Amino acid sequence: MPVEDTNRLSLLLYDGNDEDGINWHVDGSIYLGQRWAGILVLIERTKEDTAKLELQPNLVTTILPKSDIENSLVLFQGDHVRHRLKPMLEGEERIVLSLLFSDWPQRTRNIFLRRYQSRVNQAFYNNPNP
Ligand SMILES: [Fe+2]
Repeated sequence: MPVEDTNRLSLLLYDGNDEDGINWHVDGSIYLGQRWAGILVLIERTKEDTAKLELQPNLVTTILPKSDIENSLVLFQGDHVRHRLKPMLEGEERIVLSLLFSDWPQRTRNIFLRRYQSRVNQAFYNNPNP
């Protein structure tokens, strides 16, 4: 991924203090090739039995067990597969390394795709860069 893409490698901390959580969505993509999101879960200290990250491939909700989620890499095409992060509860903590992969990381010139990605970045990561 290009160095300018601030989503290519992010260390993200979620805690229950500010009601972190991300509702169902698909990511944008500003690349001509496939865009794969990788979530390496470092810490998942929650009160639930299932992982906070849920995926919906083919609109079927897939729940991941929490027991094996730490040190696991969840790899999915976030611009095709709906996904969400269930709301964090008070006292919970989740730390992940978020990675981006593409087989052809050439940026599109499509202004609509770039604006959509910018809005997603602003909403979910407080980062307006596309
Ligand atoms: Fe996402």
